[in-house]
Amino acid sequence: MKTPVGIIGFGRMGRCYLKELQQNEAFEVAYICDNDAESREVARKQAPEAQIVADDQVIFDDNNVQLVVLSTTADARLQQIRRACATGKHIIAEKPIADTPENEWEAVRLVEQSPIMSTANMYLQNSWYHEAMSEAVKSGDLGELAIVRICHMTPGLAPGEGHESEGPSFHDCGMHYVNLARWLAQSEYKTWHAQGIRMWDWKDPWWLQVHGTFENGIVYDITQGFVYGQLSKDQTHNSYVELIGTKGFCRMKHDFKTAVVDIHGVTETKHIERPHGGKNIDRLIALMAESIETGKRNICMPSFRDSAIASEYAWKMLEDARKNELPSIGTHEELEEIWEHRRNLKDGYGLLPRLNKNV
Ligand SMILES: NC(=O)c1ccc[n+]([C@@H]2O[C@H](COP(=O)([O-])OP(=O)(O)OC[C@H]3O[C@@H](n4cnc5c(N)ncnc54)[C@H](O)[C@@H]3O)[C@@H](O)[C@H]2O)c1
Repeated sequence: MKTPVGIIGFGRMGRCYLKELQQNEAFEVAYICDNDAESREVARKQAPEAQIVADDQVIFDDNNVQLVVLSTTADARLQQIRRACATGKHIIAEKPIADTPENEWEAVRLVEQSPIMSTANMYLQNSWYHEAMSEAVKSGDLGELAIVRICHMTPGLAPGEGHESEGPSFHDCGMHYVNLARWLAQSEYKTWHAQGIRMWDWKDPWWLQVHGTFENGIVYDITQGFVYGQLSKDQTHNSYVELIGTKGFCRMKHDFKTAVVDIHGVTETKHIERPHGGKNIDRLIALMAESIETGKRNICMPSFRDSAIASEYAWKMLEDARKNELPSIGTHEELEEIWEHRRNLKDGYGLLPRLNKNV
């Protein structure tokens, strides 16, 4: 018997969930909800098997629905989590799990006191390439892990374009990397010093670099920005992770199609090259299917607590960057050029369907 699922929020991410759920034997998509008529129209075409609704209460009222996927923007999330817990429905939530730190911790409290299964889509934590790196550290072949270095720079969502309620790029996207560094170091943040820059006269930094220490003494640096060639003729990105131990190191880079992991241990040198895997939603829903089936939460699923901690530290790092000079380079006219350019892109980094009718 397949598990009936309701997807709430049918934008860019909701459509990714639909695709993967339709291919997974364990689930059937019973409902799709979106409060935007055009998104419902797309849903009707892509999921003729599902009921398409404008009001998510219909989904919470249906006792057959066992899992909800919460993929609206974060401002709607807490009240949906509340209703999922009250009606005993498992949850896959997009990050951040709510719109403010207080609401995020309320969401953590709700799911931790409820018997339901829950996870937040912090997909970097269960990607094959980061798992391979984590295994290399655990094997001891790199010596003791000392340094975590992460960089993710793409053209990405332009300022003012999309998830405004979820903060500047270092929170909206950067919280993934804040979570990843913590997961790789297996420790809590102790210190941070951040430098940001405002670009194109926007009020918030759109590039930020932070470094500091974890409680266990491991040091880290994270660089994240959606500033990498917004108007370049051929767009590209720069994304890598390096883990440096006392004896060896490993590193990863990807082009969103293929990920490459190089491990330079004391006894072994390994080169692994495999498909990147995108947002890994297939893996997340497989872990959720297994958790529902066995009644035991698979710990490879990132938790609401992981998400709340990452979000909280991303905000703290942004706050620190504001105290450290925060220069401004570029003009509002350039930003307008970027908006116009992105409106006409057919294939670009982080394009949102409701802003770009070509996708
Ligand atoms: N995990 C990741 O890597 C990742 C990547 C991109 C986005 N996200 C997160 O996923 C969420 C959605 O992002 P997106 O890029 O798909 O945005 P989007 O704007 O493309 O989609 C959001 C959809 O939700 C709908 N919606 C909003 N409020 C609603 C409500 N109350 N009821 C029903 N529908 C509602 C909107 O009409 C829209 O169609 C955001 O929180 C974002 O931060 C996560």
